[in-house]
Amino acid sequence: MYTLSEKKAWWKEAVIYQVYPRSFADSNGDGIGDINGITEHLDYLEKLGIDVIWLSPVYKSPNDDNGYDISDYRDIMTEFGTMEDFDRMLKSAHEHHIRIVMDLVVNHTSDEHAWFVESRKSKDNPYRDYYIWKEPKDGKEPNNWQSCFSGSAWQYDEETGMYYLHCFSKKQPDLNWENEKVRDEVFDMMTWWCEKGIDGFRMDVISMISKDPAYPDGEVRDGLYGDMNPFVCNGPHVHEYLQEMNRRVLSKYDIMTVGEAAGVTIDEAKKYANLEGTELGMVFHFEHTDGTKTAGNVIEKWGYEHPKMPVVREILNKWQIELEGKAWGSLYWDNHDQPRVVSRFGNDAPEWRVLSAKMLATCLHMMKGTPYIYQGEELGMTNTHFSSIEDCRDIEEINAYKQYVTDHKMVSSEEMLKCFDAVARDNARTPMQWDDSENAGFTKGTPWIKVNPNYKEINAASQTDDPDSVFNYYKKLIKLRHENPIMVYGLFKPLLTDNDAIYAYERELDGKRLVVACNWTKESRKCNLFDETEGSELISNYDTHEKGILKPYEARAVLI
Ligand code: GLC
Ligand code: CA
Repeated sequence: MYTLSEKKAWWKEAVIYQVYPRSFADSNGDGIGDINGITEHLDYLEKLGIDVIWLSPVYKSPNDDNGYDISDYRDIMTEFGTMEDFDRMLKSAHEHHIRIVMDLVVNHTSDEHAWFVESRKSKDNPYRDYYIWKEPKDGKEPNNWQSCFSGSAWQYDEETGMYYLHCFSKKQPDLNWENEKVRDEVFDMMTWWCEKGIDGFRMDVISMISKDPAYPDGEVRDGLYGDMNPFVCNGPHVHEYLQEMNRRVLSKYDIMTVGEAAGVTIDEAKKYANLEGTELGMVFHFEHTDGTKTAGNVIEKWGYEHPKMPVVREILNKWQIELEGKAWGSLYWDNHDQPRVVSRFGNDAPEWRVLSAKMLATCLHMMKGTPYIYQGEELGMTNTHFSSIEDCRDIEEINAYKQYVTDHKMVSSEEMLKCFDAVARDNARTPMQWDDSENAGFTKGTPWIKVNPNYKEINAASQTDDPDSVFNYYKKLIKLRHENPIMVYGLFKPLLTDNDAIYAYERELDGKRLVVACNWTKESRKCNLFDETEGSELISNYDTHEKGILKPYEARAVLI
């Protein structure tokens, strides 16, 4: 019999809700979401029942990458408000029994950060070694690495005739973590936020802070640049740095941490999120999300094929099984870097949208790990349509389009936009759909990015009081998790692993079993997992069932 093996922790029992402030709620009509907009909607989040908000970056930033390029870690972005607004939001969130987790972006800063402004001035500037500078090689870039946002990962700087590394945009120079002064600065800054009373950190691309010191060329796949991932992800000192961070900061506070771990393998995850707690609480991996974007790819990471359930299942089951007893996991479908799950893994046609959104929610929330909900996911918000590059706001899309369509003519504009419709990050960044008034109630001004035209059908106002809504289904899943330790701590065991339509598994704790089955297709399928005479149903997206059958997109979770 399986009994509790993990040390209990509040963040293992919590459900996290990610807010992308720019797109959440605009309180002053400038078309940009802001901190006061979040504060005004805390009642909504309390009603949903979530425990924690993960706040995408709100720090001072020139917004080359929507706040993931920080120019001052101890100040608030002008468009988002002031530090007083932040303090008020934090206090009010706590009064609503909601904790606040900050996004910690310390693999890189903005090129407008005071450290970088100094660093680029001269080779002997005291801040020079805060960043990664290299001499040209044969008059060119130090190696062939492609940045995550297209083009070379190196930028030539006239001032000193050297290149600096930027794994993301050229306005996001990578910090040099080998320099202990950099680590001191980061740890001081983290302590400053902890002292303010925040409740944790989501750590942006934290697996990338230690680079292979040889800086070798990477494999060239698209004929243009080389793949840097093997040399920047899970580098030689990453665990050492995180253990130091843990000793010097994290271990002093009762906070939660989750590392965004690009390129993480299961073996690496066991180290980052080890149960002894010497590094981080948990990590996000990308095998089921980014990993499946390449399905039928058009070019590099861009494709539009609907991923097949058995592929997704194999990945998620593998992580569930292998982390057991070794590391705590995180569960997510969506975030600000992913397309909308109902469009990607479900079916966003009007007749299937609600059913498939609920099915996917069940499938994820019954697994082991801490679940994350991305704003609007609880409403079944869908992908949008990009009719031209003018509709795109995301630097990743704009740069990829320039590289592959405009400059190198490797892909047609139509093909690229089709990829964007399927997997672009802007799908997640269209404004939160609050009601059916103009601009979905997001702003009284002109929104910074187009509202998804389906806001009249899909919005919070029409769902909060409707017992059959996607919103109330998520609310129920959250409540169930709070009430049923088996959902949090139960052992995961896969079922029906040969079935091409049904994703099924069970959880076990203290002699009880929770059986979960989800039909990922729009056809009825045979399923003999449930005996109608035993057990009690925790949740389902259908009111009635047919014996031996799962109806289209049917999901059931039964406690036996
Ligand atoms: C992470 C963020 C993403 C950002 C990138 C660079 O992947 O989630 O939005 O563009 O890091 O900071
Ligand atoms: Ca605003």
